[in-house]
Amino acid sequence: MKTIGVLTSGGDSPGMNATIRAVVRFGVKSGLKVIGIERGYCGLIDGAFKEMRFSDVAGIMERGGTVLRTSRCGEFYTPEGRAKAVQQMNRAGIEGLVVIGGEGSLTGAKLLYEEHNIPVVGIPGTIDNDISHTDMCVGVDTCLNTVVEAIQKLKDTATSHERAFIVEVMGRSSGYIAVACALATGSEAVIIPEIPVDWDALATRLFEERKRGKINCIIVVAEGAGGAFQVAKNLQDRIGYETRVSILGHIQRGGSPTVFDRILASRMGAEAVKALIDGEKCVMTALQLGKIVRVPIAEVLKEKKTLDMSLYNLVHLLS
Ligand code: F6P
Repeated sequence: MKTIGVLTSGGDSPGMNATIRAVVRFGVKSGLKVIGIERGYCGLIDGAFKEMRFSDVAGIMERGGTVLRTSRCGEFYTPEGRAKAVQQMNRAGIEGLVVIGGEGSLTGAKLLYEEHNIPVVGIPGTIDNDISHTDMCVGVDTCLNTVVEAIQKLKDTATSHERAFIVEVMGRSSGYIAVACALATGSEAVIIPEIPVDWDALATRLFEERKRGKINCIIVVAEGAGGAFQVAKNLQDRIGYETRVSILGHIQRGGSPTVFDRILASRMGAEAVKALIDGEKCVMTALQLGKIVRVPIAEVLKEKKTLDMSLYNLVHLLS
């Protein structure tokens, strides 16, 4: 293999730049030509390619977002779109592809391999931490730190006004961000799509706690659980607190990556290039018990990542 491509796809996540840097630098040091593909699969279809040399990725490790930019590309999910992408790859001599992104991006990579026999290596990059077979995805740790910082600030004002704050976080259909951040902030409750809520029991508990002298209350809601305004509606007249809603939104996807994400990104980026050199055809790099391993993308997509319920239980046990 002489030439590889690298792209970022789907929602951006902090650490994507550190991943690109590792792919480019490990690739160049291994004697490969590395082509950066702009705007994810859309750029693959349009031939938006540029060679990336060692010095082109200097100073990007600490930057949020993705220097290659990204997209959610509908056209790529049609056979015609993928055929166009393959023509462009052939024209540029790209023999293998590193795809940094979430579940949709991995699905696209798998189709590229199955239909056109192009070797692909996926790197899980999403704040949602909803990819199976890997303990963490690139960007999760930074996102959790951003959310925790925001909740701590909300706690200050919640305490001053003796209010309840209902804080909505991202995560698509996963409650991981909500649970992890509720645990890390000592929040009173967490509401996630994976677990139905007993509204009467929750309202009674919060009301009792208020009566016993608790002066603030933070309820973290995963976006997939129905939305913070609905939660406020269900609880506000029954818990004894004045309530406010705060939706954190896309702030969760930005910012300079944490040390954890920079290291994870560097390890996974290098491993992805190694995997292509070793002749892997369709695998994803994964973090399992501290080690970087390779897992067939087919296995990854077969399984939905389950939430560790012991974390959920701890939130309520310790609040
Ligand atoms: O997958 C990452 C994510 O931020 C989800 O948590 C959220 O549901 C979605 O992307 C938002 O997508 P968009 O940036 O297209 O609004």
